[in-house]
Amino acid sequence: MVCLQNQSSREYKNGNELILTDVGDLDITDEVAVMQYVQDKQPEYIINCAAYTAVDKAEEVYELADKINGNGPGNLAKAAKAVNATLIHISTDYVFNGDLDISESYSEEDAVGPVTVYGKTKLHGEEQVKNNTDKYYIFRTAWLYGDGNNFVRTMLKLGKENGKVSVVADQHGSPTYAEDLANIIGEAIEKQIPYGLYHSTNQGFTTWYGFTQKIFQLANVDYEIQPVTSKEFVRPAKRPKNSQLNKNKLLTQGINIPTWEDGLKRYLEVELHK
Ligand SMILES: NC(=O)c1ccc[n+]([C@@H]2O[C@H](COP(=O)([O-])OP(=O)(O)OC[C@H]3O[C@@H](n4cnc5c(N)ncnc54)[C@H](OP(=O)(O)O)[C@@H]3O)[C@@H](O)[C@H]2O)c1
Repeated sequence: MVCLQNQSSREYKNGNELILTDVGDLDITDEVAVMQYVQDKQPEYIINCAAYTAVDKAEEVYELADKINGNGPGNLAKAAKAVNATLIHISTDYVFNGDLDISESYSEEDAVGPVTVYGKTKLHGEEQVKNNTDKYYIFRTAWLYGDGNNFVRTMLKLGKENGKVSVVADQHGSPTYAEDLANIIGEAIEKQIPYGLYHSTNQGFTTWYGFTQKIFQLANVDYEIQPVTSKEFVRPAKRPKNSQLNKNKLLTQGINIPTWEDGLKRYLEVELHK
């Protein structure tokens, strides 16, 4: 995630130490090492951004994916509890099967039913967090972009190379700027909202096709966009048709959630002027 790079821990606001898990040498699957590290640092907050995120490859390596996405968060939860820290864990829309009618969006109370290895192991991670500590936030997000390889960069690159792109037009969700997710987490901490599970993407819904149209419009390029269906673009892991997450629970807590168009505009303002 863009906001969390190049530091394995840092000071957060009023001097509280924050541990970020996807950087540095800490392997979250090593229960002993995690406990030692956390005991040594005595953080107030731990944010777990570490995960096995190769959704297609995960279909072939269940054990490895589950070790990282399932057991890893459990290790962090146990360690957080041992030092009375709050664990902040990032999860995903893939805990749902994605078959909900697109006129609706998933709320935190909706039944889960992952259909991919990635989704099943991420759900296991959520359960491990809940079962091992009370002081936790789980933020389910989706369609995340920030630093590193991401959909926005890929579309701009492919468009430039080929003058056209093919994009799936029947999968629905909310593109989410990593900086906005980081701000949501920061605000949740500051406001001390009740512990628990929160859906947290940018506001508004679109398709990958609609997202691409907006990317090209804001970047002021007119590459051709060919809409395709999921059936024409088969992948080893089934992609959810409906990734739309309902954010009412977060909004009720007074958390500011920008629209996906606004997030994209701010991202591109930085990205296109590098
Ligand atoms: N990207 C999305 O669209 C999306 C959507 C919904 C939810 N999420 C969730 O958001 C979080 C961040 O996703 P992301 O896209 O930023 O992921 P990412 O770019 O793949 O980053 C994951 C990080 O975890 C590290 N990691 C892997 N195994 C580890 C281990 N055993 N111990 C410590 N670190 C380990 C990886 O390090 P190496 O690179 O060295 O392996 C990498 O730095 C994840 O929980 C993901 O499930 C992402």
